[in-house]
Amino acid sequence: MCGIVGYIGYEQAAPFLLKGLEKLEYRGYDSAGICLNDGQKLVVRKAKGKLQELKELTGYGKNVSGTVGIGHTRWATHGEPSDVNAHPHLSDSCRFAVVHNGIIENYLQLKEYLTSKGMVFRSKTDTEVIAQLIEYYYHGDLIDTVIKVLSKLEGSYALGVISQENPNEIIAVRKESPLIIGLGENENYIASDVPAILAKTRRIYRLENNEIAILRRDGVKIINTDRDEVHKQEEIINWDINAAEKGGYEHFMFKEIMEQPKAIRDTVTPRLKNGRVVLDEISLTPEQLRSFRKINILACGSAYHVGVVAKYVFEKLLRIPVEADLASEFRYRDPIVDEKTLTIVISQSGETADTKEALKEAKRRGSHVISIVNVVGSAIACESDDVIYTWAGPEIAVATTKAYSTQLAVVYLLAIHFAELLGTITEEDYQNYIGELEALPSKIEQILQNEKQVQFLASKLFHSKDVFFIGRNIDYALSLEGSLKLKEISYIHSEAYAAGELKHGTISLIEKGTLVIALATHEPLIAKTISNIQEVQTRGAYVLCLACEDHREVESVAQSTIFIPKACDMMLPSLAVVPLQLFAYYVASLKGCDIDKPRNLAKSVTVE
Ligand code: AGP
Repeated sequence: MCGIVGYIGYEQAAPFLLKGLEKLEYRGYDSAGICLNDGQKLVVRKAKGKLQELKELTGYGKNVSGTVGIGHTRWATHGEPSDVNAHPHLSDSCRFAVVHNGIIENYLQLKEYLTSKGMVFRSKTDTEVIAQLIEYYYHGDLIDTVIKVLSKLEGSYALGVISQENPNEIIAVRKESPLIIGLGENENYIASDVPAILAKTRRIYRLENNEIAILRRDGVKIINTDRDEVHKQEEIINWDINAAEKGGYEHFMFKEIMEQPKAIRDTVTPRLKNGRVVLDEISLTPEQLRSFRKINILACGSAYHVGVVAKYVFEKLLRIPVEADLASEFRYRDPIVDEKTLTIVISQSGETADTKEALKEAKRRGSHVISIVNVVGSAIACESDDVIYTWAGPEIAVATTKAYSTQLAVVYLLAIHFAELLGTITEEDYQNYIGELEALPSKIEQILQNEKQVQFLASKLFHSKDVFFIGRNIDYALSLEGSLKLKEISYIHSEAYAAGELKHGTISLIEKGTLVIALATHEPLIAKTISNIQEVQTRGAYVLCLACEDHREVESVAQSTIFIPKACDMMLPSLAVVPLQLFAYYVASLKGCDIDKPRNLAKSVTVE
């Protein structure tokens, strides 16, 4: 996610802006910039890369003067990381500067309109249209102008705006993307998150959607888009700086588990327009799509587990053979791939060496490559023919959660979109799937509200030495991820096993007290999964069963149960994975493990 800071007071602004951006570095970024009003004009300094570049460019804040300014760390969504795409963005005449966190979904139409009016754009970003719109509509009252511009924007935004004409105010706006107002003595601040202002004040306002803050040196006024004043309750922050970076949570992993509903909304909503899936990122024509005889999915780790779920989803909707392959294996087995193979590559970091090299191998053999990536401009994104970005924001914890969930969401979008193009689903199914996809975030929120139940189960089971995750069909695909989550952060040995396969050998390992986590959400096979539960129980296993809330019968066969809301079968992994993430988190926490940085692991494995 991007980071925003702003300062208005009687001190030089640059040192606060740089320090504030430093406190937001944990959010992940690829470029940074600041803009100050030096009393005559707006001065912008921005640089691709780490904040250190910007510090050196500005002489550590000494060679840019002004007592009002805004700053930004950019996590690229539209336009690759570069100096010119970095924020703040200036309007045509350089009279207005904007920093933005979020996505303007209708920026292309706005950009075309303003270009037709003769405005010249410098960057590839969505944000620049905001600065240009302010210039286009400005007639002397900046607040009125900003309100007018907001009426033209679709999407999510936290904004900071300063102008050349008026060095005595900052305007800040919030819609979906977080923004706080720091309250000082004869100075005031804006920031995306608390850490940026803690060194100055613990008094804040949290802006709500469609609230506009007008910051001056002697005070802050909050209004709505009708210019009615809004009374805000001042909040006193009593977190320490370390907790503040995690939004008050103890670990980034827990924060990112809780961010999943928003991450899925941010990834899906911009791609649903007027009840249709719109994937402008895909260059394939229906004829090209129909020419494919097979789909290969290449990835590693949790991304591979998304691929295994995707196999079930694509084969069900598209009726094309699908193979999910470990990237590290694919490369060396002389794979049968040609121009009639569609390759889908999945990677959070976009830098995983095994996945990147497997992608190149597929391309060398003539395959069209679509990648699902979370980092804009990453190596895998650049190597692909088409890229669909997950807008999960930076994922800090080594154990992936929100990236996994947003990758699944993109898989559903692709499957629904391709099925429509291929004519393999009815219009009624098409609409139902879209409705189910839109309902996922609120169902995940429902599961997260009951997270204490998972914490209780973890407290009973965290001494387990060996754990088996079993499931059939799409539950088996999910069991892979449940097992990896547990072992990678709690260091407890666990295995994922096809429930129907246990009796062919592995069941010999089941003894009294062995923990078996049975995934029984796939309704057509629930009776068979219940039989598998009974098989392991007669051999002494302790069974924790995860099922949909309309299958209470599992309570009679399992020692413990977790229920999730119903959803269409292919989307159940998006719900069922959340209790498994929470279970792994609480077990690891009870074992005192380093949850965000597990031993031996790296967030991105850039070596073979
Ligand atoms: C999952 O929790 C791990 N962090 C790991 O398996 C990861 O999914 C794998 O290394 C792939 O990384 P990528 O998605 O960045 O390519």
